[in-house]
Amino acid sequence: MKMICPSILSADFSELKNQIHKAEKGGADIIHCDIMDGNFVPNISFGPRIVSDVNNITELPLDVHLMINSPENFIDDFYKAGADFISVHYENNDHLNRTIFQIKDKGIKAGVVLNPATPVFMLEDIIEYADYVLIMSVNPGFGGQKFIPNCINKIKQLKELISSNNPDCLIEIDGGVGPENIKEISDAGADMIVCGSSVFNTPDITESVRNLKSIIS
Ligand code: DX5
Ligand code: ZN
Repeated sequence: MKMICPSILSADFSELKNQIHKAEKGGADIIHCDIMDGNFVPNISFGPRIVSDVNNITELPLDVHLMINSPENFIDDFYKAGADFISVHYENNDHLNRTIFQIKDKGIKAGVVLNPATPVFMLEDIIEYADYVLIMSVNPGFGGQKFIPNCINKIKQLKELISSNNPDCLIEIDGGVGPENIKEISDAGADMIVCGSSVFNTPDITESVRNLKSIIS
């Protein structure tokens, strides 16, 4: 099943409850929460307290994308806040295997994230343990950036790696996705598709989600 995961990074936080409900109404599958520390990425977003508030206003699963250094120190906090999926970056994890199992041991889904310049083959020794892989299709830090085209190729390479090592592993794509490119991304093999500004920076959030979903169903 193809899933639309609206990223609340682009939402109006004074209207968060309303806007999440509008996204739900359009058929959103998962709420994507971008956690940034101003250190691993050049922006600061929000922490476990907001994730916990979001968890109280929606029944949808929460996908927490950690763009922070020392993510292993915060797994427990985000788990308690209600995360159903937690992903950590390959690039700042010296003990990725340990971190992935720290997440899985909570009974939730564990994901590995690759920045645009990190090749898919770096996953060879972790892929069998990952529940999902997130391919960044922009340099992480901000919503509203332009999709980096070679990510389509990375999705295809990842699909191959997954088919021979861990067929249940899901592929997530994040950054610069909108109605103009979502079909190509979905056809390449993405299962979880993050959409920030193409959902929340539009005049009709419900209709935008509905439209994105209809293109890939
Ligand atoms: C970027 C974040 C993305 C971002 C996507 O660092 O990880 O989730 O919010 O936003 P759009 O869809 O606007 O590129
Ligand atoms: Zn994200």
